[in-house]
Amino acid sequence: MHDALERRLAELVGRPRALLFSTGYMANLGTLQALCDDATHVFQDRLNHASLLDGAKLSGARSRRFHHRDHDDLERLLARTPAKAAKLVVSDGVFSMDGDVANVGALADLSARHDAWLMIDDAHGLGVLGAHGDGCVGHAHDVERVPILVGTLGKALGTGGAFVAGSEALIEHLIQFARPYVYTTAQPPGVAAATLAALDILASEPERREHLRDAIGYFRHEAALLGLPLADSFTPIQPLMLAETGRVMRWAVELHDAGLAVGAIRPPTVPRGEARLRITLCAKHGREALDRLLESLSRLQREEAG
Ligand SMILES: Cc1ncc(COP(=O)(O)O)c(C=O)c1O
Repeated sequence: MHDALERRLAELVGRPRALLFSTGYMANLGTLQALCDDATHVFQDRLNHASLLDGAKLSGARSRRFHHRDHDDLERLLARTPAKAAKLVVSDGVFSMDGDVANVGALADLSARHDAWLMIDDAHGLGVLGAHGDGCVGHAHDVERVPILVGTLGKALGTGGAFVAGSEALIEHLIQFARPYVYTTAQPPGVAAATLAALDILASEPERREHLRDAIGYFRHEAALLGLPLADSFTPIQPLMLAETGRVMRWAVELHDAGLAVGAIRPPTVPRGEARLRITLCAKHGREALDRLLESLSRLQREEAG
């Protein structure tokens, strides 16, 4: 089962090979720990997922963070690094708390120019973005330009686990040296079988992704009419920027009581003053659910106004 799933995942994202990990956290930890040491310079977007930051820390690499999606800042940091040093640029594909998408093409150009490897964690793009649900990297950027690609299976695909995709050499190296791969029991074969079934659905029911795109468009359009402070995102992650923790908690509790499950995201997960409701849309959300959410948000806004 695991072998069949690894082949299907490699095929989905157009890479020679893929390797399954038990979770996305472990895939990121294992990849960074296996590829980097204290001589490696790692460059991370400031808003990268915690597992990427933790992986670089565990590896002992020299880590620097560039301003969010700021390629000039990244270029400045790369240019200051000795030309011969081992360099790795790391970014989320879709940013998990903001819903915006990395400019993978620009990151790949910069990485190539400075002789750095590029690693993209496409946890939230896989199954949603790309012509075939292959994510924001997949077939749009080949293995030469994005040599290390991570995808997780517990989000759009609805099962669990994760994979790293790349060259034969990368995967063989991870099998030997990624400790979160070597020193844990593989995910149950039943979970791998469920992911294979999810991949069948991904391939045969593209209307689910179309519906999701429509739902995102409808929600954003109506929210804009209501003057709700949505972040600039075209992915299923639609953060409502309420700023204060107390306000976010109040709204989240009210929404919960109205039968709406919305994440309350607050420091330290996001910077102080940037607390938000993390609205996550999915292919099963129809007009009725979206209208119910919009009505509740509108009511909360009106009540606050007085
Ligand atoms: C961008 C990103 N990478 C990795 C992970 C970790 O994946 P997992 O939940 O499978 O450990 C998450 C969230 O859980 C995520 O949002």
